[in-house]
Amino acid sequence: MAFVSLSKLVRSPGLRGLRYCTRRAVSSSAGGDGSNLSLKLLVFLGSTRPNRMCARVSSYVVRTLEQRGHQVEVVDPVELDLPLLRQPVFAYPPGKAPKVLLELEEKIKAADGYVIVSPEYNHSFSPAIGNTLGHFGGSCFAFKSSSIVTYSIGQFAGIRAAMSLRPFLSELGCLPVSAIFSIAKVGEVFNPDGSFKDGQDDKRWDGYAAKCFGQLEWVGSAFKKHRQVVDPFSSSPPNVKMEDRYMPESE
Ligand SMILES: Cc1cc2nc3c(=O)[nH]c(=O)nc-3n(C[C@H](O)[C@H](O)[C@H](O)COP(=O)(O)O)c2cc1C
Repeated sequence: MAFVSLSKLVRSPGLRGLRYCTRRAVSSSAGGDGSNLSLKLLVFLGSTRPNRMCARVSSYVVRTLEQRGHQVEVVDPVELDLPLLRQPVFAYPPGKAPKVLLELEEKIKAADGYVIVSPEYNHSFSPAIGNTLGHFGGSCFAFKSSSIVTYSIGQFAGIRAAMSLRPFLSELGCLPVSAIFSIAKVGEVFNPDGSFKDGQDDKRWDGYAAKCFGQLEWVGSAFKKHRQVVDPFSSSPPNVKMEDRYMPESE
């Protein structure tokens, strides 16, 4: 089965850097059983390397989520040309953070859930993921859910990256679902366009992805419904006021 590459996906209007925005009519029966909602999902790319395997994996991930009826946008640190993390957005005076970060912050707040696509670097998740997500306070991600997708060129499938992502995502408040979609020997699995290479068991891979994303849909739908009933921040107000967090660089 051939999938379109990320570069063929529709360019997002009016948002610099969020280049690959999928736009299609979404069904109200995301996940296929009619009970889950169509979710707004952000897919974070975890590699900035030239010829990164991340493009292959995320191409498959985006297409799969889209086919399940979700609105998907890719957050690519290369396309966004994200700065190195010097201070998080909330530490800037109001409105003074770089525009690219302010725009991305709005996207993160508006999303219902997150999919992190990370290679394993040095037995952990990639610096690109830490840099991208670290710009934003936990309140942007809180009371949402997330899925972990990892891969490596070797036999361990990036599982150590997945284990290190769990506490990181939990701290941000976007609780990771239990099923991890992890891919060993990623270079043997995907073609550059995100389709499976000959000899790969498509159904088995699709099954692993379905388990992971099915959990994201269930939890994401439940959280979304409850957010509409109870303001989560009234149940769990921040214990530090924003103005108290702001420490000018000169201090
Ligand atoms: C800095 C760096 C550290 C790496 N560390 C690991 C590692 O700890 N475990 C592993 O299985 N592979 C490791 N690899 C190999 C990656 O799995 C492989 O290069 C993979 O293709 C990286 O994803 P990318 O192509 O999307 O950047 C490392 C690669 C790099 C560049």
